[in-house]
Amino acid sequence: MQMMAWKDWIKIAFLCFLSVGSVVLGTTDEGDYAVLEEFRRGLSNPELLKWPSDSKDPCGPPLWPHVFCSGSRVTQIQVQNLGLSGSLPPDFNKLSMLTNIGLQRNNFTGKLPSFNGLSNLQYAYLGGNQFDTIPWDFFVGLDSLQVLSLDENPLNQSTGWMLPPDLENSAELMNLSLIQCNLAGSLPDFLGSMNSLGVLKLSYNNLSGEIPASYSGLPLQILWLNNQLGSGLTGSIDVIAKMIFLSDVWLHGNQFSGQITSSIGALVSLTRLWLNNNRLVGLIPESLTNLPQLQSLQLDNNMLMGPIPNASFANFSYAHNSFCQSTPGLPCSPEVNALLDFLEEVSYPPKLAGSWSGNDPCTNSWLGISCSDGKVSVINLPNFQLTGKISPSLANLHSLVDVILGGNNLTGTIPANMTALTSIKLLNLSSNNISPPVPQFPSTVRVLLDGNNLLQISLSPVYPPNVSTPSTNRPTSPNRTPPSTAAITSKTTRRFNILIIIIPAIVGVLLMLLILLLFYYCWKRKASVFAAPSSTNTEPNNSLDPYSLAKLASKNDVNSGITASELHSINSSINSNAYVTDSGNLIISVQVLRSATKNFALENVLGRGGFGVVYKGELHDGSMIAVKRMESAVLSNKALDEFHSEITVLSKVRHRNLVSIMGYSVEDNERLLVYEYMHQGALSKHLFQWKQLDLEPLSWKRRLNIALDVARGMEYLHNLAHECFIHRDLKSSNILLGDDYRAKVSDFGLVKLAPHGKESVATRLAGTFGYLAPEYAVTGKITTKVDVFSFGVVLMELVTGMMALDEERSEESRYLASWFFQMKTSKENLKSIIDPSISLTDETFESISVIAELAGHCAAREPHQRPEMGHAVNVLAPLVEKWKPVNDDDDDCLGLDFHQPLLQMVKGWQAADGTTSFGSTSLDDSKGSIPARPAGFAESFTSADGR
Ligand SMILES: *[C@@H]1O[C@H](CO)[C@@H](O)[C@H](O)[C@H]1NC(C)=O
Ligand SMILES: *[C@@H]1O[C@H](CO)[C@@H](O)[C@H](O)[C@H]1NC(C)=O
Ligand SMILES: *[C@@H]1O[C@H](CO)[C@@H](O)[C@H](O)[C@H]1NC(C)=O
Ligand SMILES: *[C@@H]1O[C@H](CO)[C@@H](O)[C@H](O)[C@H]1NC(C)=O
Ligand SMILES: *[C@@H]1O[C@H](CO)[C@@H](O)[C@H](O)[C@H]1NC(C)=O
Repeated sequence: MQMMAWKDWIKIAFLCFLSVGSVVLGTTDEGDYAVLEEFRRGLSNPELLKWPSDSKDPCGPPLWPHVFCSGSRVTQIQVQNLGLSGSLPPDFNKLSMLTNIGLQRNNFTGKLPSFNGLSNLQYAYLGGNQFDTIPWDFFVGLDSLQVLSLDENPLNQSTGWMLPPDLENSAELMNLSLIQCNLAGSLPDFLGSMNSLGVLKLSYNNLSGEIPASYSGLPLQILWLNNQLGSGLTGSIDVIAKMIFLSDVWLHGNQFSGQITSSIGALVSLTRLWLNNNRLVGLIPESLTNLPQLQSLQLDNNMLMGPIPNASFANFSYAHNSFCQSTPGLPCSPEVNALLDFLEEVSYPPKLAGSWSGNDPCTNSWLGISCSDGKVSVINLPNFQLTGKISPSLANLHSLVDVILGGNNLTGTIPANMTALTSIKLLNLSSNNISPPVPQFPSTVRVLLDGNNLLQISLSPVYPPNVSTPSTNRPTSPNRTPPSTAAITSKTTRRFNILIIIIPAIVGVLLMLLILLLFYYCWKRKASVFAAPSSTNTEPNNSLDPYSLAKLASKNDVNSGITASELHSINSSINSNAYVTDSGNLIISVQVLRSATKNFALENVLGRGGFGVVYKGELHDGSMIAVKRMESAVLSNKALDEFHSEITVLSKVRHRNLVSIMGYSVEDNERLLVYEYMHQGALSKHLFQWKQLDLEPLSWKRRLNIALDVARGMEYLHNLAHECFIHRDLKSSNILLGDDYRAKVSDFGLVKLAPHGKESVATRLAGTFGYLAPEYAVTGKITTKVDVFSFGVVLMELVTGMMALDEERSEESRYLASWFFQMKTSKENLKSIIDPSISLTDETFESISVIAELAGHCAAREPHQRPEMGHAVNVLAPLVEKWKPVNDDDDDCLGLDFHQPLLQMVKGWQAADGTTSFGSTSLDDSKGSIPARPAGFAESFTSADGR
C-alpha cells in the first residue's frame, strides 16, 4: 500500500481526536435526577451505591458510579450484584433515554415499575431479584428492546401471568429469558412472528399446551422450555425440526408425546438436545445421532423403542425407555421388528409403548401378546383404541394363530400378504373402519369383518341381487366367514332386493359429490397458496423477491397470504418427498439444483468466491436462488470441513443485512450451498459499471441507505451475533443489493471467528487489495478493525464512484484510501472527487461531508483510531432518517428474512416433485434485466490462503 505523507496522518489523528474528544458538558436533566434520587431513597442500603450525597449531577463530571449518560440524559444504570435491597420508583419510565439497565442479582422487592414507553431501551437485565408483581403495561412501547431477562423473580405468584401481546412490537428482540418467574398458560402464538428472536428461555414456569406451529420459522438458536412445574407442555415436538438454526434445546421434564421426527436431521447446528422425562415414543431416528455438531443427547425416561443407535459423542443417555437392546448398535430380533412395525402404524399407543420393552415378546410382560413354543402366536388387543393401519409386517410373524383387533379404529386395507400366514386361524377385525378390497384367506381362517362401514357399502353389489342376498344389508353375525365363502341365508324378499340396489346407488352418488367437493376445495387451496409465485412470472414489478415472500410469511396471523396451517401442510408433504435423504436431513436435492441452474450452465455463472463457483438458479415457480458449488477438485478433508463450518457460521449469523443461507446439498461428490438471490447484484456493478450495464446511477439517498445497511450487518457480525465474527473480505463486490436496493453483506468464505472476544488472531493473509487494512497486510493479525477499515474504503467508493484500487489511475490516486485522505481535507478538493452522477445540492454536500469524515475515521491508519461499527451506525442512522424516502414503507418486512429460507426451500421441493428437466419450465424473460454476471464475486482477489 502506498504510504501517505506523515503530516497527513497527523492531520487525521487530530481530526479523530476532535471527533472523539468533543464531549457535551451539561448538568443532568432534572427529571432524570429526580428518578435517581427516588431510586436511592427506595433502597434500605443506598450506601452501597456510593453515590455522592452532595451532588445533584449524576451525569457529572464526575459521573456517579454505576450511572452512564449521554449529554444530560441518563442512558444506563448498572448495579448488578451489589446486594441492594428495596423497591424501584413507580415512575421509573421517566428515564426516557435509558438504553441499558442492569439490576440483576440484587434483593429488589415489591412491584416492578412499568417500562411503558422506554422506546430507547435495548437491554433490560432484571433477573435474580424478588420482584413480586409485573404491571400489565410493562411491555408497551419497548420499540428497541433486544434483550430482556426477568429470570428468577416471584412475579404474580398467586395467579401466574402471561406475556402480553404488546411485546410483539419489540421487533428487534433477540434474547428473551423468563426462567422461573411464574409464567402460566400456553406458549403465546405471537412469539412466532418475532423474527429476530434467537434465544428463548422459559424453563421452570407453569406453562402448558403445545409448542405453537407458528414457531417453526423462528431463527432460534437456544430454546429452553424444560421443567414446567404444572402438568407441563404437551403434544408433538415436530416443530423444532423446522427451526434449522437451533443449537441448544432443552425440552426435558414435560409431557411431550409422539415420535422424534426423522427430519430432525435438518438441525445441522444442534449441539445439545435434552428430551428426557417426557412421553416420547417410537424409534430414535439415525438422522439424530448422526448430526454433525451434536455433543449431548439425553433421552432418558421416555417410551422410546427399537434399537439404540450408535452415537459418536460421549454425552448420550437413554436409560428407562423401551428399547429392545441395552447396548447401542445391536439390532432387534425379527419378531420384535415386525411388532414394532405394527406399533408404528398405530402411532405407538403409550400403553403398548411402555410395555413392549426388550428383545423377547414372550416374557409374558408384553401386553396383548401370547406365545407358544417361544414364538408369537396371539395378538389380543380388542377395544384398545388403536387408530391407524394394519402393518403388512404382521405377515412376518409366521407363528400367528389368533389376531384379535376388534373394536378399534383401524383403517386401510387388510395387507394381502397376511393370507400367506400358515398357522392363522382367526382374524377378528370387527367394528373397525377397514376398507376394501378384502384379500382372500383360505377357508380354514375365520375372518370377522362385521361393523366395518366401508366394507358393507362396497361389498353389497358383490352379491348378485336376484340370486341370493344376505338376511340383512348390515350383517352382524360374529361368525361370518369371508364374503367369497360366506354362507348366506337366502330368505329373500323383493323389498330387500330393491333396497340393495338403491342404497348403494344413493351412497355412490353422495360419495361422488363429496369427492368432487373435496377436489374443488383442494384445487382452490393449492391455487391460493401458489397464486403469488406463479403470477409473478408475468408481473416483474411484483416479482418474487425475498421481501415479498417475507411479506407473505409475515401475514401468517392475518387472514391473507399463506396461513400457518398451510405452511405446515406444505412442509409435511416434504416427508414423503424423494428429496429427503434416508437420514431425514432437510436438504435440497442436487437434482433440484441441477435443474434450477440448467445443469450448472456457464451462462448462469455469477462469479467465483470462497471454494467454488456461484451460479444463478431459478426454481420451478420462478423464484431465484444463488448456488455455490464446491469444485470437485478441491474435495479434500480440509475443504469439506470448511463446507460444514460455513454452514455452521452462516446458521449462527442471521441478520437482515447479511445474505442468508437457504439450504445445502451433499450428494456423492457434490457439495452445494444455496443462498438467497439478490436481484440487483453487487454494489460494485452499480457504482463502477452502471454505464456499461445501462443501469440507473445510485442516488445519494440510496448510497446512504446502503452504507447504513452494511454498517448494521457488520455491527451484528462483530458484536451482536452470539460470537464475534470477522468478515475479512468486505468490499463493494461482496455487498449485494435486493430489488429495493437494500444491501446485504455476502461471501462468508473467509469469515473468522474471533476466539476470545475481539482479540487479534493471526491468520494467513486473505482479502482483497485496496480494502486491506495496513496492519493486516503487514502482520497478518486481524481484529474487527480490519473490517472497519474496509468499510471506510467502501464509503469512499460510495462518495467517489471510484474503485478501491485501479491500476489505470495515476500513481497518486491508484489507491483510493490514501488519495481520498488528501482530497477530503479541503472543501473544494472534496467537491472535485464526488461521483459526478450524484446530483449535488447544498444539503447533499453537507451529508457527503459527514460521510467523507466518517470514511476517513474508519480507514484510519492505526486500528485503535478506527471506531467500532456501532459508531458508524450511529453516524449514518440520523442521516438516513433525514433523507428517508417518502415511500420507504418496506421496513416492516425487512426484518422477516428468517422466514424466507424455509419458505423458499419448501417451494423448491414443491417444484421438485414435478419434472426435474428444466426444459419444461418456461424461463421467464420479463426479468431479463438480470445480467449474466451480476454478483461480483469475480473481482475477488484472495491471496495465499489457497482459495
Ligand atoms: C437478600 O435476601 C436474602 C433473603 O431475603 C438474604 O438471605 C440475603 O442475605 C440478602 N442479601 C443481601 C445482600 O442483603
Ligand atoms: C400481575 O398482577 C397484578 C396485580 O395482581 C395485575 O394488575 C397485573 O396485570 C398482573 N400482570 C400481568 C402481566 O398479568
Ligand atoms: C443472549 O443470550 C445468549 C445465550 O444465552 C448469550 O450468550 C448472549 O450473551 C445474550 N446476549 C446478550 C446481549 O445478553
Ligand atoms: C409383507 O409385505 C411387507 C410390505 O410389503 C413386507 O415387508 C413383508 O416382508 C411381507 N411379508 C411376507 C411374509 O411376505
Ligand atoms: C377413528 O379415527 C377417526 C380418524 O382417524 C376419528 O375421526 C374418529 O373419531 C375415531 N373414532 C373413534 C371411535 O376413536
